[in-house]
Amino acid sequence: MKVLVVGTGYVGLTTGVALAYLGHRVVCLDVDEEKIALLNEGKAPIYEPGLPELIALAKNNIQFTTSYDSSEINTCDVIFIAVGTPSLPDGSPDLSQVKASAEAIGERLDDHFVVVVNKSTVPIGSGNWVGTLLREAYRLRKGTKPIGNYAVASNPEFLRQGSAIFDTLYPERIVIGAEDTRAIDVLTNLYRPLLNQDFSSPAFLPRPEELSAVPIVTCDLASAELIKYAANAFLSIKISFANEMARLTSKVGADIVDVMQGIGLDSRIGPRFLQAGIGWGGSCFGKDTAALVSTSKEYGITMPIVQAARDVNYHQRLWVVDTLLRELKILKGRTIALLGFAFKPNTDDLRDAPSLDIARQLLQKGARVAATDPVALGNARRFYSELGVAYFDEPMDALQDADAVVLVTEWPEYRKLDWAGVKSVLANPLIVDGRNFLDHDELTRLGYRYIGVGR
Ligand SMILES: NC(=O)c1ccc[n+]([C@@H]2O[C@H](COP(=O)([O-])OP(=O)(O)OC[C@H]3O[C@@H](n4cnc5c(N)ncnc54)[C@H](O)[C@@H]3O)[C@@H](O)[C@H]2O)c1
Repeated sequence: MKVLVVGTGYVGLTTGVALAYLGHRVVCLDVDEEKIALLNEGKAPIYEPGLPELIALAKNNIQFTTSYDSSEINTCDVIFIAVGTPSLPDGSPDLSQVKASAEAIGERLDDHFVVVVNKSTVPIGSGNWVGTLLREAYRLRKGTKPIGNYAVASNPEFLRQGSAIFDTLYPERIVIGAEDTRAIDVLTNLYRPLLNQDFSSPAFLPRPEELSAVPIVTCDLASAELIKYAANAFLSIKISFANEMARLTSKVGADIVDVMQGIGLDSRIGPRFLQAGIGWGGSCFGKDTAALVSTSKEYGITMPIVQAARDVNYHQRLWVVDTLLRELKILKGRTIALLGFAFKPNTDDLRDAPSLDIARQLLQKGARVAATDPVALGNARRFYSELGVAYFDEPMDALQDADAVVLVTEWPEYRKLDWAGVKSVLANPLIVDGRNFLDHDELTRLGYRYIGVGR
């Protein structure tokens, strides 16, 4: 099929490259000229494991452009809208990128049938709204009403940054919502190789042995839109539940890791997303839970469980600073080293990263903050040079003379640091392990004061 993907961020680029790898002809469009220039040189503008390899494998089926005019909208079978939907100050999503792209698409529609798909996470009702934008833009340009030449679908994305290629090639489910059955048929055909898992896997990312087919959920537009928000809210609640319990375990002398293992082995609960720590970050959970709370207000209802998950999460970031204050008494003039800056390992993304809030609070209290990260320092220097954090490519440079070390992101390489050597460069051997990730026993044996979350 011929596919246009609008927006080449973490979602759009992964989707476009994966569909091209599966044999579709794909055009990826973005208004960011720098990103498209990099992609036209065969380079990935974001850090995502496996992405450069898949771009190379798919290169004969994919083109990159900044121009709606040269994107051949009127020959496409499917157009994905995969632009950003960041939060506005009141928590509702900023839909200006969706609006701009829907209008640009609508102006260029002609009489051949195309399915326009919301892959961006958008609030309930956005499918109808995008339909109206397409119709109005078409009418303004052509002077007539479009007759049946497009259908709008919702196809929410569940990929995880850091394993986006794996999640896209081997998804746990595909959700398609539409009122027009033609849209469901077209998208089912588009995804057939994924649903049947009968494509040949890239050598660097083999298919999991147990995977033989992917379930598909087809439903109406509003249900598909809500599935995405409900999934992210539920995962956020699980993490915040572990963090709420961690507050109690640390008071009563229990260990949150054992408690969560003990409940997670119950198959009704499951072990994943029950790791206590400094909470979630990233571009989705905070934004999507805020949007859900904001949408519920529009309908005159409240979402106290989702709101509580948010409150617990943002409190966890304060916990780091409170712990350092309790241990060091005075933060003014101290050096705090942050190990990891990205919101999670295997990504360079800093959107809503806990590191940013922690650094801001420490700096406000007069501390010096030194940070390191294997891949996120490019973005840190580019977008957060004003923050006042000293960024170091080498962990040992960030750790020099530090009064405390905070493990912010659980990059595997931090577990393997020469912790005996690290101790010799620190001013004070205090570790606050914000992810319960480091080897507590070994560090204690080496003479560190080790503080984990809820242990
Ligand atoms: N990042 C994730 O892990 C993830 C997972 C699932 C769903 N989502 C959702 O997918 C959507 C995209 O997320 P992302 O992380 O890929 O965002 P992103 O910010 O990385 O990418 C968005 C891209 O859209 C481009 N863009 C903006 N306006 C445009 C326009 N008018 N025309 C063409 N391109 C335009 C931007 O330049 C940018 O490159 C969001 O709604 C997000 O909530 C994200």
